[in-house]
Amino acid sequence: MASQAKLIDGRKVSEIIRAEVREDVQAMVEAGQRRPFLEVVQVGSDPASTVYIGAKTRACEDVGIGTHTTRLQDTVSAQELKDEIRRLNEDDDVDGILVQLPLPSHLSALDVIETIDHRKDVDGFHPMNVGRLAIGQPTFRSCTPAGIFELLRHYSIPVKGKHAVVVGASNIVGSPAAIMFSRENDSGKATTTICHKYTQDLTKYTISADILVVAAGVPGLIRGEMVKEGVVVIDVGMTRVADESTEKGYHLAGDVDQESVAEKASWITPVPGGVGPMTVAMLMKNTLLAAKKSVYPA
Ligand code: GUN
Repeated sequence: MASQAKLIDGRKVSEIIRAEVREDVQAMVEAGQRRPFLEVVQVGSDPASTVYIGAKTRACEDVGIGTHTTRLQDTVSAQELKDEIRRLNEDDDVDGILVQLPLPSHLSALDVIETIDHRKDVDGFHPMNVGRLAIGQPTFRSCTPAGIFELLRHYSIPVKGKHAVVVGASNIVGSPAAIMFSRENDSGKATTTICHKYTQDLTKYTISADILVVAAGVPGLIRGEMVKEGVVVIDVGMTRVADESTEKGYHLAGDVDQESVAEKASWITPVPGGVGPMTVAMLMKNTLLAAKKSVYPA
């Protein structure tokens, strides 16, 4: 059967968001203000992290946000890393601080994230920002879930009263996405189910989803028989799968078996070109908000 799902174009929507940020940055500069500035901290040289940081750096250049990456050895101590973060916290010329994850195993991500000044936490990972998200207060929202909501908004896909099923409960995507869907605020008001690796009979939940967000990191986890007709599918999966036929030697695989699911879905995000570009665009937006002190007024 031919696929019937319409494609949710993350590249296109991310361009719209970037254009808005670019315009705001230009207005700030024309008003004599300093450009927003994002400091990225990379510990070690994980190849995927290097690729992601490259995309973030190019996006900053594209929208006129200043940026610099501090690169630290993967042997750096927690103390040295936290001292570096505290230095950035104190630097009035730095609006946003992003520590690229994952960190080497001897470092605790939570301990490191808690060291970041929450007013500069443009990733939205600091407990202060996650807590404020959970109680519906202005906050920095984690970029990937925030990007998912921008996509739903752009395509006028209704959320209120729907059943949103989130597969994956990570601090970066699944948990904040579920909070956003469940909250009684502008974007949420969905009945929300969180599934994870301990969920028994995943299909029991996915089959009743009106909106299905999959962020499990398991290529092909969701197949056509696990979803109902008309479902909206957001595929957050981005696993590198070895592929000799490509120039890079790998391709990115989503968590959704696109072929079988697209036959039943009304909307679906492609991989790549769906959620990925939105994450970067929302980081630009959060950095702008940090520079404007919109979330935490001075
Ligand atoms: N690693 C994977 N995704 C992310 C992200 O959104 N932010 C950071 N800091 N690290 C990541």
